Amino acid sequence: MSLQKDSWLPLNNGLKIPVSGFGLYQIPVEDSTKLTYEALKAGYRHIDSAQAYQNEEEGAKGISQFLKENSDIKRSDIFFTTKIKNGEHGYEESKKSIEKSLAKVSPYIDYIDLFLVHSPISSKEQRLGTWKALQEAVESGKVKSIGVSNFGTPHLDELYAWEGLKNKPVVNQLELHPWLPRKDLQAYGKKYDYLLEAYSPLTQAKKLDDPELVSIAKKHNVTPAQILLRWSYDQGFIPLAKTVNVDRIKENFNVLDNVPKLSDEDYKILDKDSYEVLTWDPTKHVDQ
Ligand SMILES: NC(=O)c1ccc[n+]([C@@H]2O[C@H](COP(=O)([O-])OP(=O)(O)OC[C@H]3O[C@@H](n4cnc5c(N)ncnc54)[C@H](OP(=O)(O)O)[C@@H]3O)[C@@H](O)[C@H]2O)c1
Repeated sequence: MSLQKDSWLPLNNGLKIPVSGFGLYQIPVEDSTKLTYEALKAGYRHIDSAQAYQNEEEGAKGISQFLKENSDIKRSDIFFTTKIKNGEHGYEESKKSIEKSLAKVSPYIDYIDLFLVHSPISSKEQRLGTWKALQEAVESGKVKSIGVSNFGTPHLDELYAWEGLKNKPVVNQLELHPWLPRKDLQAYGKKYDYLLEAYSPLTQAKKLDDPELVSIAKKHNVTPAQILLRWSYDQGFIPLAKTVNVDRIKENFNVLDNVPKLSDEDYKILDKDSYEVLTWDPTKHVDQ
């Protein structure tokens, strides 16, 4: 069956994740409840927050408001992600950190669908301690799935070699777009059975005026942002797009309805074979 904008993909733990995600990074705290609500109203069912974005509580509140006004939609129809921030790694620190997030969201939602380690920036002992704390959170039922973000191949090998590993990461959330396709971590996704979530799939708007991208968009009569999202879906990624603009929320969410699969010719043009980081790159982190 072909992918729809409201499709959910199977995770390696038997649960599912919506293929279209709305990201809350750099959304001002005071707008995060309203924009989460607007994203859900437009059809998104997947909200991506983080401790570091300081809007976990506001995102959860937006979900709760939306559910109150739409009695036909259940909590289990919506997927909420957060992430343990750098500096709160290690078993004891992460246990406290997870509790803090749960306390923030619990007035609004009764569990967290996905808790990620935001980056591997700490030490082996701390990363594995964090994972132990996350596994216990799954056991408690307050967190349904756990995953990683910005993990490079050595960080993944380290986790898989650990004798304490019970819950495999369900996703690796990475900067992914045509200028940074990360073929090595795509291959690791197959090896270790995780899905790839694409963050900054719109290149944080830094490449939207790229002449080749613009010409492909013109040919299909859609926007460059929509071409980048279509590219992401076509790779099998789960793109997480951010916007503070309600019309763009709809434009981004409706890509799988409005933009046909890209042609081989389009792919060749978009295949930059480059490693151009536009945000940050903890996948290269080496312990000090
Ligand atoms: N794990 C990590 O380390 C990490 C790092 C970065 C991001 N993320 C996640 O990924 C999400 C998305 O990444 P991102 O926020 O870095 O960047 P992004 O989604 O690639 O780009 C957002 C930028 O694109 C603009 N934009 C959005 N839709 C548009 C459209 N249809 N046409 C033209 N411009 C458009 C936005 O402007 P307006 O807002 O003005 O519309 C904003 O400037 C984040 O919100 C976060 O959830 C995770």
